[in-house]
Amino acid sequence: MNPRLAELLQFFWSDYSSITPSAPRIHALLAARGEKVVNDHIAFRTYNLEPIRLESLAEVFEALGYRPTGDYHFAEKKLRARSFGHPDPDTPKVFISELLTEQFSPWLQETAVGLARQVPAARAGTLDLFLKLPSWAPVPFDTYQRLIDESEYAGWVAAYGIRVNHFTVLFNALKSFDSLGAFNDWLVANGFKLNESGGTIKGTPQELLEQSSILASRVETTFAGGERRVVPSCYYEFARRYTDPATGAPYAGFIAKSADKIFESTDTKLEP
Ligand code: NI
Repeated sequence: MNPRLAELLQFFWSDYSSITPSAPRIHALLAARGEKVVNDHIAFRTYNLEPIRLESLAEVFEALGYRPTGDYHFAEKKLRARSFGHPDPDTPKVFISELLTEQFSPWLQETAVGLARQVPAARAGTLDLFLKLPSWAPVPFDTYQRLIDESEYAGWVAAYGIRVNHFTVLFNALKSFDSLGAFNDWLVANGFKLNESGGTIKGTPQELLEQSSILASRVETTFAGGERRVVPSCYYEFARRYTDPATGAPYAGFIAKSADKIFESTDTKLEP
């Protein structure tokens, strides 16, 4: 793997695992079974506003050799997303979504613009979008709550900024589980709570992709004035890819109706 990309992925893992205690725990439990974790994809969330819009984030990955592989629309959640793949098969895919802010209340739009405006315009399309953290000053907790009432996604982005939303274990690289269902049972037996929205497994072998996820970790997060509150941070996802008869290779895309339910893994309304 390109060493710059490897370094960036290591940065993403360090940042993500620092606010997602379930992820290193699952890693350790899998390592204890003799498993080696391979990452299928990482995902980011943002607002469709300069300089942080989807294409601005995507430029950073395209400069590292990534190419777009799909476009996805989520009418009910008012989101769009694109996926990106890399010619090096050992490199994780990237999934970036953005909130279509103009479809929300004027108050939400103003709030999102106020956050995006704190990011220097010169960071558009550059690594600093990811490396300079936090992306903006902490929001007041009541602003966060009001955003959540309109859009869980909007609240998550306000609280965390431009950070990895989830990493994904590639089930295919695991050796000691017969099925994604058996893997999910093992997670539950180890005390993890699955996202059951739309069923614990999203997608089917016929659709060439099965996905599941645990609910986001609940962690103390800092809001304006130094107020600390326990809110959902990030989650860990699991993906099993089937051979695409059209290419003879593992299916490389995503399924919008599955992703739609996976987004809910960070919902404040789902009890951990
Ligand atoms: Ni995902």
